[in-house]
Amino acid sequence: MFRTRRLRANANIRNMVRETRISKDSLIYPMFFEEGENIFEEIESMPGQYRMSIDRCDGVIKELLDVGVKSVILFGIPKNKDEVGSEAYHDHGIVQEAIRYIKKNYPDMYVIGDVCMCEYTSHGHCGILKGHDVDNDTTIKYVAKIALSQVEAGADMVAPSDMMDGRVGEIRKLLDANGYKNIPIMSYSAKYASAFYGPFRAAADSAPAFGDRKTYQMDVHNIREALKEVYDDVDEGADIVMVKPAMSFLDVVAKVKEITDIPVAAYSVSGEYAMVKSAAKNGFIDEEKIMCEMAVSAFRAGADIYITYYAKELAKCIDKGL
Ligand code: PBG
Ligand code: ZN
Repeated sequence: MFRTRRLRANANIRNMVRETRISKDSLIYPMFFEEGENIFEEIESMPGQYRMSIDRCDGVIKELLDVGVKSVILFGIPKNKDEVGSEAYHDHGIVQEAIRYIKKNYPDMYVIGDVCMCEYTSHGHCGILKGHDVDNDTTIKYVAKIALSQVEAGADMVAPSDMMDGRVGEIRKLLDANGYKNIPIMSYSAKYASAFYGPFRAAADSAPAFGDRKTYQMDVHNIREALKEVYDDVDEGADIVMVKPAMSFLDVVAKVKEITDIPVAAYSVSGEYAMVKSAAKNGFIDEEKIMCEMAVSAFRAGADIYITYYAKELAKCIDKGL
């Protein structure tokens, strides 16, 4: 009889034969920057997460660096929104200023700009409208401008999350033309039209004013289409591809990992975080164990990079041996 239990007898042997090992180097922490001063406001649906002004971000950044989380992805909440999301590509927009501040004061922090329009447009869609639909080819020009402005502000990497066709190529072209040949693009390649983004949209004030995002984000029923998205983005010059959300889409993570040789990121989104937080608050689950299990499962599925609101807590668990 093959006794699988032989290799489970104690922690030494279990750890020795462990197939998935997690490193803090693979974690990215999302942050919400709001225009204004002295703002540090907890997001109701995401306890422990904050919308903050630049002058109040030091504590969070220091804590992250202290526990060994060295990458952040930034989202901006501007004071003024308009039809074309002008604040998204403004030289002194909220994200551009946040990037400048962090890179100047914490050069060891790797700063990624989320590139999208929905937090900046008055209608909340991820692009420029033509009638009631988002116009793809106009939008990608704007998306590239946003990416360039973030890179000019000092971003180490840009991450387009708009899901327009051709945007990775458009960004690559504009960055190259401006001398930024070495700035990587992490594309939200397989980003699904998911209900798991609910808490984020409340936090970033980015819910669409009408309709939904199903004409640009992926149908949750599809997986072969995710491969097409990945192939397209790789062709256009993506350096890292992302699957989002993570937890309910680990089959996609695994499949994507098989078909590409570039790093794969998985984004554990706001809804995943909110579910764990609220269940834990009720005493129904063990928050720390669930958080660790979710992270392990993403890496086991094939993720090389894990974007999570739990980055700090996870880093502490990794120190303890998870
Ligand atoms: C913006 C964007 C969203 C998220 C990341 N970038 C929201 C959306 O597409 O509606 C979701 C992040 C999360 O839920 O944690 N395009
Ligand atoms: Zn968007």
